[in-house]
Amino acid sequence: MVNGDESKFQEAIMAKLLDVLNEKLSGKNVKIVLPEGTDERVLQAAVELHKGDKVSPIVLGNVEEVQALAEKLGLSIDGIELMDPTNSELREELIAKFVERRKGKATEEQATQMLNDPNYFGTMLVYTGRAAGLVSGAAHSTADTVRPALQIIKTKPGVSRTSGVFFMIREDEQYLMGDCAINPELDANALAEIGIESAKTAKAFGMEPKVAMLSFSTKGSAKTPETEKVVEATRLAQEKLASEADLEGVVIDGEFQFDAAFVPSVAAKKAPESPIQGDANVFVFPSLEAGNIGYKIAQRLGGFDAVGPILQGLNAPVNDLSRGCSTEDVVSLSIITAAQSL
Ligand SMILES: CC(C)(COP(=O)(O)OP(=O)(O)OC[C@H]1O[C@@H](n2cnc3c(N)ncnc32)[C@H](O)[C@@H]1OP(=O)(O)O)[C@@H](O)C(=O)NCCC(=O)NCCS
Repeated sequence: MVNGDESKFQEAIMAKLLDVLNEKLSGKNVKIVLPEGTDERVLQAAVELHKGDKVSPIVLGNVEEVQALAEKLGLSIDGIELMDPTNSELREELIAKFVERRKGKATEEQATQMLNDPNYFGTMLVYTGRAAGLVSGAAHSTADTVRPALQIIKTKPGVSRTSGVFFMIREDEQYLMGDCAINPELDANALAEIGIESAKTAKAFGMEPKVAMLSFSTKGSAKTPETEKVVEATRLAQEKLASEADLEGVVIDGEFQFDAAFVPSVAAKKAPESPIQGDANVFVFPSLEAGNIGYKIAQRLGGFDAVGPILQGLNAPVNDLSRGCSTEDVVSLSIITAAQSL
């Protein structure tokens, strides 16, 4: 989880987001894999989560090392499910299923090696239904955390690319922005999918999505291949929206400059026919450059807290921590991940 250069969300901000999820998750004990069991913050978070009834953590690591760390930190890990990827009784089954899933892209020998890696092992626990999601990255890079999910869990039917969104929160305001984290290259269809998936994510977190497909043009004010791509993405997103029963009431429109999506007086002038009149709350950027720069400007100049990236579009949720994360970050992201799995 990234919050600019800082690792810790403001607790009040997170509490607001998590409030929405508490009811959803209460009593569910959703199984979430934490592959980095020998990291202090992760083990502390596992103990915190285990005390509640929302997330039931599965902690990976060398069992003796995890137990020694717990002792050193004065933590009781009684009752927490612990697994060592290097000698688990599940290895044989998971190796075979990994080879089968990779369809010629990994030999049994390679798979045997790869499943020593807790991220691959943990992702296989999710793939085989033993856990609902995974949270890693306290001690691994984004690519090492995300790659096993892209290779094994893969994207949902109808979604060609996973994408990373940020909740942008300031006092009573809450917006969603994407893709700010994953795809350097996006075509119109992938952009349209991000519009739909972002609407779903926003809805799952209690928002009523009004999705703006952003560009440097509003309703034909400029015509270039870049603006035409967003026009086409908007058309495709609206088409997809019509067949998404659980997105009834959601509005997607474009192409908009940011002010035309966000400022009612500008919308009235530049997009008077649009169902979005300055009240968009989900923003889909036309490229990773725009998205990554855009959310950081809101964060740094606008004073918004950025919660994310939250990955969307996968068959099961996997999320990436920042290496500077705190114990609270691990707890919060585990709860967010559990909520995505419902
Ligand atoms: C996401 C990312 C880590 C994937 O890296 P990678 O391992 O080099 O990806 P590869 O191209 O080797 O693909 C590996 C697999 O993932 C799949 N994949 C890659 N990107 C994907 C995406 N966005 N959605 C779904 N699947 C994807 C590939 O199809 C491939 O599957 P296969 O092995 O079954 O054929 C990479 O795109 C990346 O680094 N993105 C930018 C992240 C970044 O720097 N963000 C900055 C702000 S946080």
